Amino acid sequence: MASSRGVTPMLTACCLLALCCSPGAISLLLRSRRVDGGNDRPILGILAQETDFESFQKFGSSYIAASYVKFIESAGARVVPIRLNRSDEEYNKIFYSINGILYPGGGVDLKTSEFSRVAKIFYRKALEANERGDYFPVWGTCLGHQLLSYLTCGENLLTWTNTDNFAFPLNFTKDAKGTKMFADFPDDLLQEMASDPVTSNFHFWSLSVQNFTNNEKLRSFYKVLTTNVHGNIEFISTMEAYAYPVYGVQWHPEKNPFEWNNRTGIPHSRSAMRVTYYIADFLVNEAQKSNHQFSSKKEEAEALIYNFNPVFTGRFSSFDQAYFFD
Ligand SMILES: *[C@@H]1O[C@H](CO)[C@@H](O)[C@H](O)[C@H]1NC(C)=O
Ligand SMILES: *[C@@H]1O[C@H](CO)[C@@H](O)[C@H](O)[C@H]1NC(C)=O
Ligand SMILES: *[C@@H]1O[C@H](CO)[C@@H](O)[C@H](O)[C@H]1NC(C)=O
Ligand SMILES: *[C@@H]1O[C@H](CO)[C@@H](O)[C@H](O)[C@H]1NC(C)=O
Repeated sequence: MASSRGVTPMLTACCLLALCCSPGAISLLLRSRRVDGGNDRPILGILAQETDFESFQKFGSSYIAASYVKFIESAGARVVPIRLNRSDEEYNKIFYSINGILYPGGGVDLKTSEFSRVAKIFYRKALEANERGDYFPVWGTCLGHQLLSYLTCGENLLTWTNTDNFAFPLNFTKDAKGTKMFADFPDDLLQEMASDPVTSNFHFWSLSVQNFTNNEKLRSFYKVLTTNVHGNIEFISTMEAYAYPVYGVQWHPEKNPFEWNNRTGIPHSRSAMRVTYYIADFLVNEAQKSNHQFSSKKEEAEALIYNFNPVFTGRFSSFDQAYFFD
């Protein structure tokens, strides 16, 4: 399973970048790298999802797995749950109060769910805001990553791969050089990511490289950073938009340190922990570039996830803890 395809050129390209790239490319890279002195009190929204499985329904009509919350908190940001079935006015107000949004994994329909409807509202606002120079990162994990592909091209191009409960290394593409997401990752960690099973995969469906490449909208919007192969299908495992701070991972960085139930698919090695921490650091730093804020301390306090208590769900679900909402 291990493969170092692409990683050596990528590392070399990073090292040589300062020597051989155009000034434009260098300034783009520098802009995408960690900045200090931005918003050091970032707040990320996490989109709630319908409780589509029975064991969760008695707790609420929507939920957020607590691992996503811990993932963001671990890198120095706070979390606001984005609840479903709210008015456009309320979503607009939240958008201008938070510094980025995360679409988590799960199992609802890409086209017809309330999760998808609300994701689309924030996605559109994010693109518009970024076009005006109002920085606003959008992150999708697993179903959230698949949803990004749907929001970008307007079609569900997924194919069944049944990639449920597998830990994989990543196959870096040659385009991974000059990437925003991995810019601050140490070389030794990138090497480990290419050889050790550090990414957790729990997805029945995947976006194949074939369908991605055949779709002009996807191909021109996203750069593919990594792929994986499962059951003869090569699928997109990591992507980032060329011109917007929009990022998708088919794997689950939040599970490595915070979910313990599924033994084979969730790595807890030291390198797996480092992957999570560097991804969380990247995402929180992206949020630090946004200057949105709540109009008052009171409104901020009322919106934070601290108003809810997570439930220990590990005895009957694959999530150890989850937050529930009406
Ligand atoms: C959203 O509202 C619809 C219509 O009232 C309702 O059927 C559904 O259960 C609600 N979903 C959530 C997650 O609150
Ligand atoms: C491509 O997308 C279609 C849906 O439009 C899907 O039926 C098909 O399985 C996909 N093929 C591959 C190779 O991903
Ligand atoms: C990486 O790509 C190679 C060649 O396509 C494939 O055989 C291998 O399974 C891939 N590795 C992973 C972890 O997906
Ligand atoms: C993951 O763990 C949960 C809870 O133990 C279990 O119900 C589920 O079947 C597991 N899933 C896989 C794919 O092993």
